[in-house]
Amino acid sequence: MQIVTRTDRPDLNDTAAAVFKERWPEFIFHDETPKKYLSRVLEHFSHFDILVLDQEAVVAGGWGVPIAWNGEAGDLPSGYDEALVRDVQGREADIPATTLSFMAVAVGSAQDKRGLATVVLRELTQRAQEAGLAHVIAPLRPTWKHRCPTVPMGEYAAWTRADGLSIDPWIRTHQRMGARILGPAPTSMVIEGSVAEWEEWTGMVFPVTREYVVPDALDLVAIDRETDRGVYVEQNLWVQHR
Ligand SMILES: CC(C)(COP(=O)(O)OP(=O)(O)OC[C@H]1O[C@@H](n2cnc3c(N)ncnc32)[C@H](O)[C@@H]1OP(=O)(O)O)[C@@H](O)C(=O)NCCC(=O)NCCS
Repeated sequence: MQIVTRTDRPDLNDTAAAVFKERWPEFIFHDETPKKYLSRVLEHFSHFDILVLDQEAVVAGGWGVPIAWNGEAGDLPSGYDEALVRDVQGREADIPATTLSFMAVAVGSAQDKRGLATVVLRELTQRAQEAGLAHVIAPLRPTWKHRCPTVPMGEYAAWTRADGLSIDPWIRTHQRMGARILGPAPTSMVIEGSVAEWEEWTGMVFPVTREYVVPDALDLVAIDRETDRGVYVEQNLWVQHR
């Protein structure tokens, strides 16, 4: 197994993109904030954008951003989108970063349950330490939360098994690495589109104005036929690693 950055291996870009795209619902790719900021993030922080190779095949990957955070819950970004903005604006204003925020991890769909996500998280944590960052946090997207889209994230995150770990597999992975839950990231991602766009992204039909359960969405999607808008505000969960 070999770990490289995406910049080291531009030849793997298409393969890596294909491996990861299949793991996310289409609507996730229509958040406007990453469209504005992602290219600057990748340009400045390529050492936090890694791929795991198994005999030259891309089997996993993940990335994070260095941000200024004072260690207090009240200073956390509102989630994924704001972490991206804080990272880019902080760099452009010369504000020193203190913290690595993991942003996404994915493993190839045939590679689940091999512990590869932990390999990615460990590598990024080590890189954060080498860069002198004091904290490691993440606005997690719990992998089973889509099964309970009407439950607030704070309540979901408190549900535990008999062994005291979360009922959610992805939260458990972080807990096993020593992470603790800080609290919900209330406005982590905001995705808006016309009703036709939402129908295309989800393969559903939205005949009336109301909130809908959408596959792989962690929260409900609010469709307004009168204004021809669909709005999805995704809550994630802030955790802090040791
Ligand atoms: C979430 C993800 C990164 C986990 O990767 P992984 O390398 O399989 O992680 P692990 O091997 O550490 O497994 C973590 C837990 O998830 C469970 N798990 C992993 N894949 C699973 C699957 N397809 N179905 C059910 N459970 C699964 C494992 O059993 C383990 O739970 P456990 O506590 O019962 O042992 C991977 O499933 C993935 O890429 N998902 C799509 C992208 C995503 O949601 N990323 C996370 C948000 S940033």
